[in-house]
Amino acid sequence: MKQKLKNSVGIITGATSGMGKAIAMVFAKEGARLILSGRNLEKGNELADQLKNSIFIPGDISIPETNKKLVKEAIDHFGKLDFISLNAGALGLGNVVDLPIEIWKNTLETNLSSIFYLSKYAIPHLLHSESGTILINASIAAFKSFPQHPAYCASKAAALALMKQLAVEYAPKVRVNAICPGPVDTPLLWDSAKAFKNPESAVENAKNATLLQRLGTPDDIAKLALFLVTDDSSWITGSAITIDGGILNT
Ligand SMILES: NC(=O)c1ccc[n+]([C@@H]2O[C@H](COP(=O)([O-])OP(=O)(O)OC[C@H]3O[C@@H](n4cnc5c(N)ncnc54)[C@H](OP(=O)(O)O)[C@@H]3O)[C@@H](O)[C@H]2O)c1
Repeated sequence: MKQKLKNSVGIITGATSGMGKAIAMVFAKEGARLILSGRNLEKGNELADQLKNSIFIPGDISIPETNKKLVKEAIDHFGKLDFISLNAGALGLGNVVDLPIEIWKNTLETNLSSIFYLSKYAIPHLLHSESGTILINASIAAFKSFPQHPAYCASKAAALALMKQLAVEYAPKVRVNAICPGPVDTPLLWDSAKAFKNPESAVENAKNATLLQRLGTPDDIAKLALFLVTDDSSWITGSAITIDGGILNT
């Protein structure tokens, strides 16, 4: 069967863990050549070794230069750029009064400003692609609050506003969409549970609150991501697509 991303070049942030890693694995299987981003050298290099035609470029995504470098590496190594998949995320837990200002700023920089930085440097190249796409991993936290998640929820709601702005500014050449996952079984979910009164039962409660009675898997998200970066979704732009086992309806 024809590979869906054959001849495509993309950048994947948050590729060292969870959903970003699953997206990288599915996209590589579909023939994409990838620049993988994250800070963890061991995990990043291990994934790059495992995938064909992929290069790990370490760096803190909250720094503009890191984003500039990711785009430069894509162009230097592969000669073009077709999509960016933005998954890096930080929780920055704490109630407003107690949350250190540095953590507030870092969470916004990691979850929101990094989308602005990478888009800023990538779009001039995406405009040359036959099918340029930007795919932002937001969250259902864009729509509802969670205990001790003010920085996280604010950053995810703002990420959707930025997604819409990008979709309007760069249509029809570049399609821009967001995925809004519910509870997905990754290290970030288990860290997030620490913000709840009873962390031990928080993940189990989240699972039981889904209509489908299970946590999401990184692979569930990767399948939707694949749909949204390929021409299968060629009439979708400016959309925030919820993938949450139905939890927002409970
Ligand atoms: N899990 C959920 O239930 C859930 C639900 C909705 C939305 N999300 C969103 O989904 C995305 C992926 O999260 P995940 O659940 O897959 O979490 P994860 O397994 O903990 O992965 C987080 C990724 O973000 C990277 N990252 C964090 N801060 C970074 C920084 N400053 N610079 C570069 N990379 C950074 C990490 O890389 P290094 O450790 O190598 O730096 C890691 O690859 C996040 O945006 C998250 O907000 C998660």
